[in-house]
Amino acid sequence: MKRIGVGLLGFGTVGLGVYQALQNNREVILKRTRILFDVKKVLVSNQEKQRQAEGVKPLITTDFAQVLEAGVQVVVEAIGGVEPARRYIEEALTAGCHVVTANKELIAKHGSDLERLAHRQGVKLLYEASVGGGIPVLGTIQHFLQTNRIQRITGILNGTTNYLLTEMDKKGISFAEGVAIAQQLGYAEADPSNDVDGLDAAYKLAILARLAFEVDISTTEIPREGIRDITPGELALAKKLGYAVKLLAQVDCYGENRPLSLRVGPGLLPLAHPLATVDGVYNGIHIEADRVQDITLVGQGAGAQPTASAMLEDLCNLYRLPLSYVDPRRDAVVLPQVSSGDRFI
Ligand code: NAP
Ligand code: HSE
Repeated sequence: MKRIGVGLLGFGTVGLGVYQALQNNREVILKRTRILFDVKKVLVSNQEKQRQAEGVKPLITTDFAQVLEAGVQVVVEAIGGVEPARRYIEEALTAGCHVVTANKELIAKHGSDLERLAHRQGVKLLYEASVGGGIPVLGTIQHFLQTNRIQRITGILNGTTNYLLTEMDKKGISFAEGVAIAQQLGYAEADPSNDVDGLDAAYKLAILARLAFEVDISTTEIPREGIRDITPGELALAKKLGYAVKLLAQVDCYGENRPLSLRVGPGLLPLAHPLATVDGVYNGIHIEADRVQDITLVGQGAGAQPTASAMLEDLCNLYRLPLSYVDPRRDAVVLPQVSSGDRFI
């Protein structure tokens, strides 16, 4: 068994989710990877705040230096925003730590530089949770579509706005009520205007475009419109005409030397489109490519546990043997007796 020291930056929705998931899934992680992830320090901004988690109190600090001094091999960043997250991640990578982050703004703006730094230091920077919450979309593009020429990605990439549009449509709640609930549920960004004005989706689109098309896109280059002006009446009318209104993020490129085109804004999807029924906090990503043709990934795009899932997968993937689905060092597992004959219906 290997013991890996983890420094956790942030203990809000995501940080707490990661801490709890590491405790609750300790056995399954140990069984599958032979690794015990041991949280050694937790960085927060307010030392006095009450923390709803067992055993965390002695780990809390407001001094980042203490995180690196605690002898950690991985830093998990769940603070958000650019500074001081960027400085902490740079210091962690420079100190030889791997980094896992959920920070889409930071990765959209500085991902290339941070990845170069990680490469120079011989460590890894993984950020699956930065796009699509629990949906393994970055891994799918990087590992399972690497031989495809991707032509178009269309995504519902923001859980808060999708939740809002769904609730406005199905329950007729107001825009302001919907935002307040999304905040309570931990879906919204620290500043929810980043969600409703499409900036959060634009950060995620820039990350997808970088992985799919190897280009660095500044989010200021992406034409963007939010959902503030959409009314329940418009949603009902669209439905009557056979469409769903979604906040869509789209990038396409048809050919090596053809220009890339990107956009974020409300769009009408025919009800038969695979993303049209992706409702609530769910995100969906529809990828069109020359070999696979098209695939759709759907799952919860925000919230503590789906996001923690993506971060735990990144943590384990830091240490996973490449090119092997089952670790050949693993002891054979005797399966319990499986009963046959159960029917689905
Ligand atoms: P949050 O609930 O606001 O939590 C932020 C945490 O960071 C808090 O614990 C806060 O400390 C700490 N913090 C803030 N500024 C700090 C500073 N300067 N130094 C040290 N600690 C600081 O945010 P969140 O929703 O967990 O989001 C965190 C990150 O995950 C963001 O990048 C977000 O975009 C991303 N993300 C969120 C979700 C989601 O569903 N919420 C999903 C995917 C990705 P205190 O506790 O002391 O206030
Ligand atoms: N605020 C984001 C959303 C969190 O609502 O999708 C997940 O990235």
